[in-house]
Amino acid sequence: MNVTHISAECYPVAKVGGLADVVGALPKYQNSASFSSQVIMPFYDNKFTKANTFNTVYESQLNLADTSYPFKILTLKEPLLDFDIFFVDVPELLFKEYVYSNDDTERFLAFQIATLDWMLTWDAYPDYIHCHDHHTGLIPFMLQESFKYEAFRKIPNILTIHNAQYQGWFSHKKVNLIPPFNFENVGFLDWGGSVNPLAAAIKCAWRITTVSPSYMEELKLSANGLENLLNHESAKCSGILNGIDWNVWDPETDNYLVSNYNTKTVVSGKKANKKHLCDTFNLDVKKPLFAFIGRLVGEKGSDLFPEAFKDILEKGDASILLLGSGHDDTEIQLEALKNDYKGTYNAFIGYDESLSHVIYAGADFLLMPSRVEPCGLNQMYALRYGTIPIVRRIGGLKDTVIDISEKNGFGICHKDVTVSDITNAIDRGTSLYENNTTYKKLSKQVMGIDHSWNASAKEYIKLYKSI
Ligand code: ADP
Ligand code: GLC
Repeated sequence: MNVTHISAECYPVAKVGGLADVVGALPKYQNSASFSSQVIMPFYDNKFTKANTFNTVYESQLNLADTSYPFKILTLKEPLLDFDIFFVDVPELLFKEYVYSNDDTERFLAFQIATLDWMLTWDAYPDYIHCHDHHTGLIPFMLQESFKYEAFRKIPNILTIHNAQYQGWFSHKKVNLIPPFNFENVGFLDWGGSVNPLAAAIKCAWRITTVSPSYMEELKLSANGLENLLNHESAKCSGILNGIDWNVWDPETDNYLVSNYNTKTVVSGKKANKKHLCDTFNLDVKKPLFAFIGRLVGEKGSDLFPEAFKDILEKGDASILLLGSGHDDTEIQLEALKNDYKGTYNAFIGYDESLSHVIYAGADFLLMPSRVEPCGLNQMYALRYGTIPIVRRIGGLKDTVIDISEKNGFGICHKDVTVSDITNAIDRGTSLYENNTTYKKLSKQVMGIDHSWNASAKEYIKLYKSI
């Protein structure tokens, strides 16, 4: 049996967030579970595509309304990944330095149409098609409704919602960009008066999953306008918790670290990495180090950091290091704090994959005060590196972190997203750190928690087979 994943991101080719990590890992684990898995993604103009060479496997033209675009399907000359990967190269639309932009309607429609046009030429169609997020949300609709892809009607397809905040809305005026379909069924595309690719997928895909069980339950209450639809379709909806790539994220082999370590050497290993991190960022190594890695957007609660960090840093018993980029206002405030708290606070505003690994290893605690967190991978990376997560009890964070006050607890959880929730949680972390023996024991304990994809990859396979 086989499955074809279709996605806008895939690590290590192009990554904006966790979607890339998932699509770069799940196929690997499905292949090792003897379920043949491959990925189709856009061909961007980025570091990865510049550094590698590609073969053309197919060439044609695709139509978006009256405009015709040449496209190619490429594959890697040297197979570098543990799964087959194909790239949709539409030079005029997709070959850009960025993944997302403001002409995404045309870009991702071109991606989806080119993918299906190419698939029509295959000797054997996939057993399952697995789409990810709204960028591929029109595929389930086209499989079901479009005249051109009638041959695909019986292919079971699923869509995974990684984040329901983004739905890919566009005006009905652009509906002619979609290949011809029975117009009586245009309602499948609509939600609230515009074309909504995520809603269309929820209506048309054979199964819908979210990236954690709690997120599915939360979406049924509030899903940026899609809650009623999800309740209506609930029979085909379920949540499957993401995993992490156990090989990419392994402190014992991680090339980015100054000192590799395992559960036996976690104390000395983390100490060496923390020292390196504190030297690099001019931070007091003796204080507990609280870190944040992520997008500086409302969903992550990062707008509260400037005030919360000031409160903590004034007390002087903790160090804070932040890696992230996002809203200009938050970036400016977080940069400005650097001058006031030299020696206990620093921030790298930007994106840096290697630095993220060093921080997971060198920090004592990882902060995730998310307002919304469909799954969250950072807390699982933190655990793998012996770093204690401090999380808001929501979505996937709720499904992966147990508070130290509870049975088998190992993390710090808070209920709401306010400045005082964040500062109280950090204070609890500081107290935990003062009790050196307990902290070390926990750090060792969390490294042993298995969040690899082994279990969840099998759950997806079980879901496909149940269709
Ligand atoms: P989301 O996809 O919502 O951003 P996740 O927790 O699922 O959140 O995944 C975020 C991924 O992106 C993790 O691999 C994290 O390490 C990485 N990441 C986020 N921001 C940065 C950054 N500024 N530099 C490096 N890696 C980052
Ligand atoms: C989204 C979510 C994040 C999740 C990731 C991978 O970006 O915001 O919570 O971990 O997708 O599924």
